[in-house]
Amino acid sequence: MNRLKMKNIAVFVSGSGSNAENLFNYFESSDTARVTVMLANRPDIYALTRAQRLGLEAVVFNREEFKSQDGVLKILKDRKIDYIVLAGFLWLVPPALIEAYSGRILNIHPALLPNYGGKGMYGDAVHRAVIAAGERESGITIHRVNEQYDSGDILFQARVPLTEADTPESCAAKVHELEYAHFPRIVEREILRSEAEA
Ligand code: GAR
Repeated sequence: MNRLKMKNIAVFVSGSGSNAENLFNYFESSDTARVTVMLANRPDIYALTRAQRLGLEAVVFNREEFKSQDGVLKILKDRKIDYIVLAGFLWLVPPALIEAYSGRILNIHPALLPNYGGKGMYGDAVHRAVIAAGERESGITIHRVNEQYDSGDILFQARVPLTEADTPESCAAKVHELEYAHFPRIVEREILRSEAEA
């Protein structure tokens, strides 16, 4: 049987990086892929401390480098990156990158899209909006990335009940548990599916 070449994943982060760490650890023992680089859009985020601790290469980039052909795209090409995973990443992905990695960029959103998505709907802002609306459930959405915020094909959703006692903080904790349980597995599933179709 033909064995697939191990795929390389780049994780993009803008904050704490707990999902990035969870992805890194999961893929350490995967036959499908490895997380081989972290890309961060800020130099002062905790995700970079995690990368250092994990022995994961990390590269910080600015807005110009994100958009230019010899910026982020070159960093990815030089490292033979096959898939991009956005794990708490804030910026809209530019068209050139979407085109270069067509169908191979995945994002996790901490709510049940199409609700509570779009520009500015990031991290704690999402959980505050969900609680303010009195929702009785929240969840996660894993989707492909296109040129608009949070609107690519949905690949997976999981739900968690909320009660009147829930706060944005407790909602975030529940949603993080779902993220840790499902995100790496779904990324691996999608890589295997894409490779089988290729
Ligand atoms: C995660 O909950 C992720 O779903 C969310 O940011 C958090 C990052 O946490 N992403 C978005 O809101 C994207 N719109 P982490 O840095 O600890 O992984």
